[in-house]
Amino acid sequence: MGQDAQKQLLYSFTKLADVKEKGAVVIVKGKDCYVWDDQGKRYIDGFAGLQVVNIGHGRKEVADAVYKQMQELEYWHSFFGFTTAPTVQLVEKLATMTPGNLNVAHFVNSGSEGNDSAFKIARAYFKQTNKQGKYKIIYRNKAYHGMNMGAISANGFYGNRVPYEPLIPGFLRIPHNHCYRCPFDKTYPGCKIECAYALEQLILEEGPDSVAAFIADPVQGTIGGYIPAVKEYFPIIREICNKYEVLFICDEVITGFGRTGKMFGIEHFPGVIPDMMVVAKGLSSGYIPLGAVILTDEIAATLADSIFMHGYTYGGHPVATACALANIEILERENLTANAAEVGAYIAEGLQKLMDQFEFIGEVRASGMLYGLELVQDRQTKEPFPVTVATRAMDLAREKGLIIRMSTGGFANLICPPLTMTREIADEMLAILKDTYTDLAKEL
Ligand SMILES: Cc1ncc(COP(=O)(O)O)c(C=O)c1O
Repeated sequence: MGQDAQKQLLYSFTKLADVKEKGAVVIVKGKDCYVWDDQGKRYIDGFAGLQVVNIGHGRKEVADAVYKQMQELEYWHSFFGFTTAPTVQLVEKLATMTPGNLNVAHFVNSGSEGNDSAFKIARAYFKQTNKQGKYKIIYRNKAYHGMNMGAISANGFYGNRVPYEPLIPGFLRIPHNHCYRCPFDKTYPGCKIECAYALEQLILEEGPDSVAAFIADPVQGTIGGYIPAVKEYFPIIREICNKYEVLFICDEVITGFGRTGKMFGIEHFPGVIPDMMVVAKGLSSGYIPLGAVILTDEIAATLADSIFMHGYTYGGHPVATACALANIEILERENLTANAAEVGAYIAEGLQKLMDQFEFIGEVRASGMLYGLELVQDRQTKEPFPVTVATRAMDLAREKGLIIRMSTGGFANLICPPLTMTREIADEMLAILKDTYTDLAKEL
């Protein structure tokens, strides 16, 4: 396929010079956990596209739902009191799935738009309640919440922020909660979860009257590399947010729709209900782009008294919402959340065995079907390898027919397969990974 045309694309998170030298991989077909390139080579999709395709590739049922909706009504919007039938159905469905009174959804096209919308809603909410001074947004080191200006203002990795500075004012950072690399040099549980109480400390330093929201994902995403939180973390966060009237925005862009072995990642923390939940990716399994910010009845009621001055042309696109309904139908019917827990635990065992074989794997993190393998030069000192090593593993795996990636922060390999993965395909994936690390070990 057109080698020159391939060089005319400005690829994301890619050095264009590398594509010019090596060429691009052109993916032409997908079925369940596999994709094929234009040379006929088959890959196990160990990353569900970009942590998106929860139901697996090539589902005719979704294509049929999309086709049907396109024939009926190809486009309409959600401005000026308009909406469409599948959009209303999806709101109703999401309200039954999400915890607590998260019952009102605003549709967008991506996770970044969802988080940016949540920041705007948090600020608008406090203006509406006559607390104009509450505008600051707190996020965590190593956080990734997307790439638009709002989302990178809450990004915990310099490489994603610095090229685009100055960012949006009013965004503040607390330390991350990665126990393996504890920012306080402590050990759980003796640490008394200082990383969570860092939120309270910052709120007090800044003044509670100035803080609007705190954003976090239940398993921290692609920068640190799928870092789960200890069981006390989010209950403490919820308590602090309640105490200082700070809204808790839960970014479920990766963790939503079965990924962690529960429908939503925050459900691993019983009783913790966010004020806003942002979803995308697994909401439609990426068959059509779609995201949403889901609000509590209380926030929605507050916004109801004024015109909501926000929205995107394609927010609540009926083809996308019809697609999401078909996707959720499959997720529920095939009980893919349970599969993420069961086969997920089986894969985690396999990865643990790899850790026994390869000294350079310092930590295996597993949450449902999300895995981070921390690559270290020395298990004692935990000194990480430079980013080139995790990237090299990604390239070696790709050569061998497995798509995984490195964490943006550079120390880990990340795996996030479709939730349809069976033990048989998992064995195939683990065998390629073993092969990959065997080759990598020779180069270290
Ligand atoms: C946790 C998290 N939030 C938000 C986003 C941004 O989503 P999108 O790329 O759809 O804008 C991502 C993307 O990977 C993510 O991992």
